[in-house]
Amino acid sequence: MSHLLPLSRVAKLVAQPRHTLQEMIRNGTLATFDGMVELDELLRAFPEVKWDDDAEFRRVTEIKDKAFAKRVLERALPDKDVLVARLNELGDDYAAAKSLLLHYGNVMAWLDEKIDELAENASDETYHALHSVRAFLLRNLAEMPQGAALAQAVIAQERMLKLMSAHVTIQPSGHEFFVDGNDTLLEAALRNGVSLNYGCSNGNCGDCKARLLSGEVKKVHAHDYVLKQAEKDAGVILLCSYAPVNDVVIEANVAGARDIPVQHLTARVKSVEVFNPQIASLHIQTPRSQRLRFLGGQSIQLAVGGAHGRYAIASCPCEDRHIEVQIPHRAGDAFAEAVFTMLKANDAVEVEGPYGEFVLDEDSPRPVIFLAFGVGFAPIKSLIQHAMSLELVESMDLHWLDHETGHYQDNLCRAWADALDNFSYVPHAQSDDLDRVLTSIVTDYPDLHRFDVYAAGTAVQLSLAREHFMRHGLPEIRWFESSTST
Ligand code: FES
Repeated sequence: MSHLLPLSRVAKLVAQPRHTLQEMIRNGTLATFDGMVELDELLRAFPEVKWDDDAEFRRVTEIKDKAFAKRVLERALPDKDVLVARLNELGDDYAAAKSLLLHYGNVMAWLDEKIDELAENASDETYHALHSVRAFLLRNLAEMPQGAALAQAVIAQERMLKLMSAHVTIQPSGHEFFVDGNDTLLEAALRNGVSLNYGCSNGNCGDCKARLLSGEVKKVHAHDYVLKQAEKDAGVILLCSYAPVNDVVIEANVAGARDIPVQHLTARVKSVEVFNPQIASLHIQTPRSQRLRFLGGQSIQLAVGGAHGRYAIASCPCEDRHIEVQIPHRAGDAFAEAVFTMLKANDAVEVEGPYGEFVLDEDSPRPVIFLAFGVGFAPIKSLIQHAMSLELVESMDLHWLDHETGHYQDNLCRAWADALDNFSYVPHAQSDDLDRVLTSIVTDYPDLHRFDVYAAGTAVQLSLAREHFMRHGLPEIRWFESSTST
């Protein structure tokens, strides 16, 4: 009997991103069956994985968690009702396997008797044939087949993963993610950068309604919003109140930049991180009851006292209530002045947004070049972290061209390059000859027509870069840009 595993779970088991496995499928080094990987094929394709030792798996996961600034407390246990349901399911699997074994034992006992019965009056030749069949069967049943211990270890790891997390597929977009720990479907989707519709996030508004197409869910938070009987019959659930018991398929809309309404809220300062006299990061936290919906690469309007300004968000929508905004220290910018000289932890900041359509094209499977000019790094950072959490992009190359502020988050970019096989980072020193720098970048890509390019910088920098990339074969519609004022 074959044991099939979904691709996303295989990615977790072998601690590789999904796009690496998709690349293996494309080049024929990993065979799949209806999008699933057979256990023997998994063992063949990854002979070097130590299945009975998850130390390496944990090490890689920890490096990635740090590089992506993800919460580590995701290792929490699932909600107790969900855990009980998953244990029951595991118990059912075990009971089914045990009863199948009993059945095979009974068949063997019957065969044994039958062979004795047939052998009684058989010719010498038939007698010997029957006894060698029996000897063959007994010998093979007594011996552990080659590779069985390995298969057992993989199945044990997979069962453990299934106990701790459930796999979710969103239709029709095809987004996939895991629900870990005691997260609801909505929390897990946001943590994985999937922008599903929601409002209050606590069961009051009904904006997070979605339809369960397959699998089983459990209500883990009570909700005041009342679902009609017809909705319940059609499988409608509230994503903010339910968690999956097993692997589920959900029908829900994934929002684009134009679908997300402008929101107003008061956030609190967590910290101000001054990189150098020209640039600082402002870290703010939204209220528990009112998170900010946005997509990587968008901007927000911030105000404190009478000072205000619009800035690119530099963090990922997957970071829960935390938002990072990078503030250049421009002359005459009262808000920047407040950040550099006055703001402290717990101060209130008014937030309005999100704005802008500089977001990832999530339908594009193409490799990506990110081009950041100076403080244009902020929206690019947000896009990169969003792309990492979605795990959709085949490969990402970041070119950061210094422009007065220095490569103020150089270590972070190097950490990403260390943690990810599909990420490369090239810092470019400040130069008076931008033309020469851009020429050196584009000539490194003889196949530029295959790429998507996301660029952020001043209007002059973008215009020059755009010209270079188009001239070297980048299709015009694969160029995405965001203009900064310095
Ligand atoms: S987000 Fe309001 S009910 Fe779920």
